Amino acid sequence: MTPTKAVLTERRGSVALVTLNRPEAMNACDRALLSELRETLVDLRFDPEIRVIVVTGAGEKAFCAGADLKERAGMTPLEVKRFIVTIRDTFSLLEAMGKPVIAAVNGVALGGGTELALACDIRIAASGAMLGLTETGLGIIPGAGGTQRLPRLVGKGRAKELIFTARRISAAEALDIGMVEQVVAAGELLEAAMRMAEKISENGPLAVEQAKYAINAGMETDLATGLMIESRCYDVIIPTQDRLEGLAAFREKRKPLYRGE
Ligand code: COA
Repeated sequence: MTPTKAVLTERRGSVALVTLNRPEAMNACDRALLSELRETLVDLRFDPEIRVIVVTGAGEKAFCAGADLKERAGMTPLEVKRFIVTIRDTFSLLEAMGKPVIAAVNGVALGGGTELALACDIRIAASGAMLGLTETGLGIIPGAGGTQRLPRLVGKGRAKELIFTARRISAAEALDIGMVEQVVAAGELLEAAMRMAEKISENGPLAVEQAKYAINAGMETDLATGLMIESRCYDVIIPTQDRLEGLAAFREKRKPLYRGE
């Protein structure tokens, strides 16, 4: 019997739906899932047909319950170290994808599950979802980017309160503090994520890629440097066919058809 894949990829036009598929373990990340996720991301990164990625979890209960704590219990300290580097690098790879990634947070997202959502560009949560960086409750710290990405998203004070208390928060509170961008009814989550993904995929993919790069790189620096980064990103766009197509479509009063060229 072929083992079940821990990460499923479904192509829906120019959108790839990536599903963490260990519902019996609340889609927790073990070594096998991480390795499949990494492979999937590399494939999608270099797939010119795919313009936007939606990440979600299988089943109705969980987006991802973080690191697989059962697997962790059998690891040596060196193996734990290796796992942490792997999960951090995998989420950084996700963040650096040259195309937008939307997290469709369908249920519990704890520890590494919240860190996965934080590494995505945009988060849409089902109204019953629960998020949290719960690691200090386990005597560890967020190690897949949580201590860095959460304060950047919600501010230092709120991030400290959440990380120090290990408190689990509702989708409504996550929306309130800017940890997710949208909350919808559970039954409408995938549709909402796909709708947003399709809207993005109608726009110039090279432009979206450069805008993502400018925002991500620019936010890590002072305004003057950020503006220089923006200027460089614009320079990449000027010689493209897509830019000319945008102008032509406007002149001809039609929808543009961007080819990413
Ligand atoms: N790693 C491995 N297995 C996990 C897991 C994790 N992080 N989270 C849940 N599971 C497993 C449970 O052990 C259980 O398996 P079992 O039936 O073989 O015992 C199964 O998933 C269902 O979980 P259960 O706890 O029975 O469901 P629940 O709805 O009562 O609670 C959670 C779900 C996610 C709230 C709860 O399991 C939990 O708090 N998990 C730990 C999450 C966490 O702290 N993650 C941070 C890791 S750094």
